[in-house]
Amino acid sequence: MTTNKRVVLSSDHAAIEMRQEIAAHITAKGWEAIDIGPTTPESTHYPAHGEAAARRVADGDCAFGIILCGTGQGIMMAANKVKGIRCGVCSDVFSAQMTREHNDANMLAMGARVIDNAKAIEIVGAFLTTDFGGGRHGTRVEMIKALEA
Ligand code: RB5
Repeated sequence: MTTNKRVVLSSDHAAIEMRQEIAAHITAKGWEAIDIGPTTPESTHYPAHGEAAARRVADGDCAFGIILCGTGQGIMMAANKVKGIRCGVCSDVFSAQMTREHNDANMLAMGARVIDNAKAIEIVGAFLTTDFGGGRHGTRVEMIKALEA
Protein backbone atom coordinates (compact mmCIF):
# COMPACT_ATOMS: atom_id res chain seq x y z
CA MET A 1 0.00 0.00 0.00
CA THR A 2 1.28 3.44 -0.93
CA THR A 3 2.42 5.96 1.72
CA ASN A 4 1.35 8.81 -0.56
CA LYS A 5 -2.20 9.59 0.59
CA ARG A 6 -2.86 12.31 -1.99
CA VAL A 7 -5.74 11.68 -4.39
CA VAL A 8 -6.44 14.15 -7.19
CA LEU A 9 -10.07 14.60 -8.25
CA SER A 10 -11.38 16.27 -11.37
CA SER A 11 -14.48 16.20 -13.53
CA ASP A 12 -16.39 18.04 -16.19
CA HIS A 13 -19.65 19.92 -15.57
CA ALA A 14 -21.68 16.68 -15.52
CA ALA A 15 -20.21 15.43 -12.25
CA ILE A 16 -19.38 18.35 -9.98
CA GLU A 17 -21.67 17.34 -7.14
CA MET A 18 -20.57 13.70 -7.26
CA ARG A 19 -16.92 14.77 -7.26
CA GLN A 20 -17.39 17.02 -4.23
CA GLU A 21 -19.19 14.26 -2.33
CA ILE A 22 -16.39 11.80 -3.10
CA ALA A 23 -13.77 14.35 -2.01
CA ALA A 24 -15.51 14.81 1.34
CA HIS A 25 -15.87 11.07 1.78
CA ILE A 26 -12.24 10.19 1.10
CA THR A 27 -11.07 13.05 3.32
CA ALA A 28 -13.09 11.53 6.16
CA LYS A 29 -11.34 8.22 5.42
CA GLY A 30 -7.89 9.78 5.88
CA TRP A 31 -6.92 10.55 2.29
CA GLU A 32 -5.78 14.01 1.20
CA ALA A 33 -8.24 15.05 -1.51
CA ILE A 34 -6.73 17.39 -4.10
CA ASP A 35 -9.88 18.65 -5.83
CA ILE A 36 -8.83 20.57 -8.94
CA GLY A 37 -12.36 21.44 -10.02
CA PRO A 38 -14.15 22.81 -11.85
CA THR A 39 -16.55 24.34 -9.32
CA THR A 40 -18.98 26.21 -11.57
CA PRO A 41 -21.61 24.45 -13.71
CA GLU A 42 -20.84 25.92 -17.15
CA SER A 43 -20.33 23.36 -19.89
CA THR A 44 -16.67 22.47 -20.14
CA HIS A 45 -14.36 20.02 -21.90
CA TYR A 46 -13.59 16.70 -20.22
CA PRO A 47 -10.23 16.09 -22.02
CA ALA A 48 -8.67 19.11 -20.29
CA HIS A 49 -9.82 17.97 -16.85
CA GLY A 50 -8.75 14.39 -17.45
CA GLU A 51 -5.32 15.51 -18.55
CA ALA A 52 -4.87 17.91 -15.62
CA ALA A 53 -5.60 15.15 -13.10
CA ALA A 54 -3.51 12.60 -14.99
CA ARG A 55 -0.45 14.88 -14.91
CA ARG A 56 -0.66 15.04 -11.09
CA VAL A 57 -0.54 11.24 -10.94
CA ALA A 58 2.03 10.74 -13.70
CA ASP A 59 4.48 13.18 -12.08
CA GLY A 60 4.13 11.48 -8.69
CA ASP A 61 2.42 14.35 -6.86
CA CYS A 62 -0.64 12.18 -6.21
CA ALA A 63 -0.83 8.43 -5.70
CA PHE A 64 -4.23 8.08 -7.35
CA GLY A 65 -6.69 10.05 -9.44
CA ILE A 66 -10.47 9.96 -9.53
CA ILE A 67 -12.04 11.52 -12.61
CA LEU A 68 -15.66 11.88 -13.55
CA CYS A 69 -17.78 12.93 -16.49
CA GLY A 70 -21.25 11.98 -17.69
CA THR A 71 -20.28 8.44 -18.59
CA GLY A 72 -16.67 8.25 -17.37
CA GLN A 73 -15.68 7.20 -20.86
CA GLY A 74 -14.36 10.39 -22.41
CA ILE A 75 -12.38 11.55 -19.41
CA MET A 76 -10.90 8.05 -19.06
CA MET A 77 -9.77 8.11 -22.69
CA ALA A 78 -8.07 11.47 -22.21
CA ALA A 79 -6.29 10.41 -19.01
CA ASN A 80 -4.98 7.23 -20.62
CA LYS A 81 -3.15 9.32 -23.24
CA VAL A 82 -0.79 10.59 -20.53
CA LYS A 83 2.30 8.39 -20.18
CA GLY A 84 2.27 6.35 -17.00
CA ILE A 85 -1.49 6.43 -16.53
CA ARG A 86 -3.62 3.32 -16.29
CA CYS A 87 -7.20 4.46 -15.84
CA GLY A 88 -10.16 2.10 -15.69
CA VAL A 89 -13.78 3.18 -15.97
CA CYS A 90 -15.89 1.35 -13.39
CA SER A 91 -19.57 1.08 -12.58
CA ASP A 92 -19.27 -1.76 -10.08
CA VAL A 93 -17.14 -2.76 -7.10
CA PHE A 94 -15.73 -5.93 -8.67
CA SER A 95 -14.29 -4.03 -11.63
CA ALA A 96 -12.73 -1.49 -9.29
CA GLN A 97 -11.05 -4.23 -7.27
CA MET A 98 -9.81 -5.97 -10.41
CA THR A 99 -8.46 -2.86 -12.07
CA ARG A 100 -6.27 -2.34 -9.00
CA GLU A 101 -5.36 -6.00 -8.34
CA HIS A 102 -4.75 -7.08 -11.93
CA ASN A 103 -4.04 -3.85 -13.86
CA ASP A 104 -2.38 -1.69 -11.17
CA ALA A 105 -4.69 1.15 -12.24
CA ASN A 106 -3.62 4.49 -10.82
CA MET A 107 -6.74 6.33 -11.90
CA LEU A 108 -10.45 5.57 -11.63
CA ALA A 109 -13.07 7.03 -13.96
CA MET A 110 -16.82 6.93 -13.31
CA GLY A 111 -19.94 8.36 -14.90
CA ALA A 112 -22.32 10.58 -12.96
CA ARG A 113 -25.06 9.77 -15.49
CA VAL A 114 -24.46 6.04 -15.06
CA ILE A 115 -24.30 5.44 -11.30
CA ASP A 116 -25.50 7.33 -8.23
CA ASN A 117 -23.31 8.93 -5.59
CA ALA A 118 -23.71 6.06 -3.13
CA LYS A 119 -22.49 3.51 -5.69
CA ALA A 120 -19.62 5.81 -6.69
CA ILE A 121 -18.47 6.05 -3.08
CA GLU A 122 -18.64 2.27 -2.72
CA ILE A 123 -16.52 1.89 -5.87
CA VAL A 124 -14.00 4.48 -4.68
CA GLY A 125 -13.65 2.60 -1.38
CA ALA A 126 -12.86 -0.63 -3.22
CA PHE A 127 -10.41 1.10 -5.56
CA LEU A 128 -8.44 2.85 -2.81
CA THR A 129 -8.19 -0.18 -0.53
CA THR A 130 -7.20 -2.86 -3.05
CA ASP A 131 -3.49 -3.50 -3.64
CA PHE A 132 -1.88 -4.57 -6.88
CA GLY A 133 -1.41 -8.34 -6.99
CA GLY A 134 1.96 -8.45 -8.79
CA GLY A 135 3.22 -11.79 -10.11
CA ARG A 136 1.73 -12.68 -13.49
CA HIS A 137 -0.21 -9.44 -13.40
CA GLY A 138 3.09 -7.57 -13.13
CA THR A 139 4.30 -9.17 -16.34
CA ARG A 140 1.17 -7.97 -18.12
CA VAL A 141 1.33 -4.45 -16.71
CA GLU A 142 4.96 -4.24 -17.88
CA MET A 143 3.67 -5.16 -21.35
CA ILE A 144 1.24 -2.23 -21.17
CA LYS A 145 4.08 0.08 -20.12
CA ALA A 146 6.18 -1.17 -23.05
CA LEU A 147 3.49 0.07 -25.42
CA GLU A 148 4.29 3.60 -24.25
CA ALA A 149 7.99 3.37 -25.08
C1 RB5 B 1 -20.88 15.94 -21.61
O1 RB5 B 1 -22.16 16.20 -22.09
C2 RB5 B 1 -20.53 14.47 -21.81
O2 RB5 B 1 -20.26 14.23 -23.15
C3 RB5 B 1 -19.36 14.09 -20.95
O3 RB5 B 1 -19.65 14.35 -19.62
C4 RB5 B 1 -18.94 12.62 -20.99
O4 RB5 B 1 -20.02 11.78 -20.79
C5 RB5 B 1 -18.11 12.21 -22.13
O5 RB5 B 1 -17.62 11.08 -22.22
